[in-house]
Amino acid sequence: MRQSSLVVVANRLPIDDSVAPDGACEWRRSPGGLVSALHPLLRHTPATWVGWAGGTGPAPSLPDIGSVRMRTVPLSGEDFRDHYEGFANSTLWPLYHDAVEQPEYHRRWWEAYQRVNQRFAEATAEAAEQGAVVWVQDYHLQLVPGLLRELRPDLRIGFFLHVPFPPPELFMQLPRRAELLRGMLGADLIGFQRAQAAHNFAQLVAKVLELPATDRRIGVGDRVVRIGAFPVSIDTAEMAALAARPDVVARAQRLRHDLGDPDHVILSVDRMDYTKGIEQRLKAYSELLASGHVKVRDTVLVQVAVPSRERVTQYQILRDRVEREVGRINGEFGRVGEPAIHYLTQPFDRAELAALYRVADVMAVTPLRDGMNLVAKEYVAARVDDTGSLLLSEFAGSAAELPQAHLVNPHDLEGLKQGLLSALEADPADVTPRMRAMREHLHRNDIRAWARSYLSALDDGGSLLTHLAPTG
Ligand code: ADP
Ligand code: G6P
Repeated sequence: MRQSSLVVVANRLPIDDSVAPDGACEWRRSPGGLVSALHPLLRHTPATWVGWAGGTGPAPSLPDIGSVRMRTVPLSGEDFRDHYEGFANSTLWPLYHDAVEQPEYHRRWWEAYQRVNQRFAEATAEAAEQGAVVWVQDYHLQLVPGLLRELRPDLRIGFFLHVPFPPPELFMQLPRRAELLRGMLGADLIGFQRAQAAHNFAQLVAKVLELPATDRRIGVGDRVVRIGAFPVSIDTAEMAALAARPDVVARAQRLRHDLGDPDHVILSVDRMDYTKGIEQRLKAYSELLASGHVKVRDTVLVQVAVPSRERVTQYQILRDRVEREVGRINGEFGRVGEPAIHYLTQPFDRAELAALYRVADVMAVTPLRDGMNLVAKEYVAARVDDTGSLLLSEFAGSAAELPQAHLVNPHDLEGLKQGLLSALEADPADVTPRMRAMREHLHRNDIRAWARSYLSALDDGGSLLTHLAPTG
């Protein structure tokens, strides 16, 4: 088997299978922040990506994408239910997002999580050449660093958590908290989105495992594990170039026309997830319509909400509630040919997303909790003429980097309404410097800068970095 000097391990591969309108099976880029971040980065880097291809049963064999080899890990129907839908997305996901939905704890799920993590570790051990750098991603695979170190002590192992790492009061609920922490400590470097997360982790390690820990270093026997904040980003230049393409500009103009040439277009783009604050946002919008502060003819809201984790009950409940509310708002405030909300659940290609970003005078990104939120960054990158206002939740990781956004607390309905109105009524003289400052920040701090800072910390000499194109 061909082995690589860089192995990325993530639950999801960057592509999954879908059925085309003509019934043929085709591969498309999977939506979600992790893939959006890593896909552009790895395109020109010789590497192996170990992950799951999205179905159940035997693992399909996938073609390479550019210089990246795809190594698929199979999930059985039971693994899918108990590992992916269960422990990963009904225990850890809600717990790590402030428990905005109640996390569930089941012993069977924990067994599946261990089993699947072991399978990923074994596949990775086979794919990595002697002394390779292995970069394990996200909450689905927190045991992999420890399991991999046992199998292959020669490797340099990094772990990066794309989602928030919760405060000790919440994490302490987990029945198997010590094992999860120990699993992560198999890494040489553990990266988080925010410094607060690294602090939470250090506190927990000291408390639960009684190891010497600061916010930068943890002593594990004779090893030192480094921890720190590495805020993930996007391919800013790629999004800017896409948004400036003549066909995308023309598409944006067409979209505006199709929306009825309103004075204001508000856009939201989310995975359909209860962490994204979609219901709170709809409520705020509905109240602004009811009070007459916003009028349907002048303003439209485009809500894109691509379905996610569709068999998990909490996600089904959310989708039903969102769709009922969109129907109610359109029924109450819309007119023939003029809905108050344009609601779309389809996945779009990058050019269509860029056109949507270009048409949006206000982008409303109001999650209740989010590790980073790349949609906010994509919007900023697409505003190449320095127009547009970003309404951004304080509880998105990106808020720490984009203080020029209109920051809101999405739990505070009045604050959310006020924030939306301020963004809608913003003076162009105020909009331009805000957007310019955010765009400049993202050109300096793009996905390559993120990878460079993480990999040079992990790999000391940074020998892998020669493959990454320069920032900007
Ligand atoms: P999360 O990782 O929780 O889904 P992020 O905002 O960090 O949230 O990342 C979402 C990613 O998925 C973005 O890159 C966004 O462009 C992409 N995405 C969201 N909705 C769609 C859609 N309808 N079609 C295609 N891509 C989408
Ligand atoms: C978030 C997680 C990713 C995940 C993505 C999409 O970004 O951090 O690990 O891939 O959501 O979710 P899904 O369950 O479809 O992989």
